[in-house]
Amino acid sequence: MTGFAIDVRGLTKRYGGRAVVDNVDLQVHEGRICGFLGPNGSGKTTTIRMLCGLLRPDAGEGTCLGLDVIRQARDIKRQAGYMTQKFGWYEDLSIRENLDFIARLFEIPDRAHAVDEALERLRLTERQGQLAGALSGGWKQRLALAGCLIHKPRLLLLDEPTAGVDPKARREFWDQIHQLADEGITVLVSTHYMDEAARCHELVYIAYGKVLAQGTESQIVEQAGLPAGSTLEEVFVKLIDRAQDNFAAPGKGLRA
Ligand SMILES: Nc1ncnc2c1ncn2[C@@H]1O[C@H](COP(=O)(O)OP(=O)(O)OP(=O)(O)O)[C@@H](O)[C@H]1O
Ligand SMILES: [Mg+2]
Repeated sequence: MTGFAIDVRGLTKRYGGRAVVDNVDLQVHEGRICGFLGPNGSGKTTTIRMLCGLLRPDAGEGTCLGLDVIRQARDIKRQAGYMTQKFGWYEDLSIRENLDFIARLFEIPDRAHAVDEALERLRLTERQGQLAGALSGGWKQRLALAGCLIHKPRLLLLDEPTAGVDPKARREFWDQIHQLADEGITVLVSTHYMDEAARCHELVYIAYGKVLAQGTESQIVEQAGLPAGSTLEEVFVKLIDRAQDNFAAPGKGLRA
């Protein structure tokens, strides 16, 4: 291992001749929380799906957890936890049934124990009989995170895990993310919330499929060359304005 849980270079994905992820280099140290930011349609989900072995890059190379992103995608899938942007589990199964189902998929030997552990960790034990479809947004996200942890991954890829979740639930979710990082798990988490960006050890900002900034919050603010005291949000607005001039097709927005 290199000390990096994610270490990729030149990652590229094209759809219809357009590079939606364009030559992305990304390195995240083990045990760190890396925030992944960028406007809608900038390529965050596509990048995450390439990192966890679900989507084959058209170009690029590197490793996740020391495993080759092209040749060992299957092994990465078994060792990484991926929380999808849209809730992906069965609404007509209970919390426990969903977790048990996931444990079966991963062929976990002591399923009942693994499910109990995940329930306790996310404080879902008392609600384990409730149907997933009846849960509010915050509880659904807890279930989704519990599902990612069942197979004890060393890397978590969380795609906008707190979108639409209320502030208290978001804070609790982030406490949980920090707890996991303290245990040595590496986390790449996409978000549009600036308060969440502030809780990451490091940040990557992407637009038009290209990495526009990378580093700690203070490094990114410093590198942007804006007046002292500028906020991260102001920096991102500036970066996207510059990128628009350089990369956007005439008359077309990010979603083009
Ligand atoms: N399977 C696909 N086929 C064609 N185009 C796609 C496909 N998947 C993604 N795209 C396009 O690639 C671009 C990047 O999409 P992606 O979902 O990675 O962005 P994102 O940063 O996750 O956006 P959001 O913040 O809205 O979730 C978008 O323009 C999207 O329409
Ligand atoms: Mg997305």
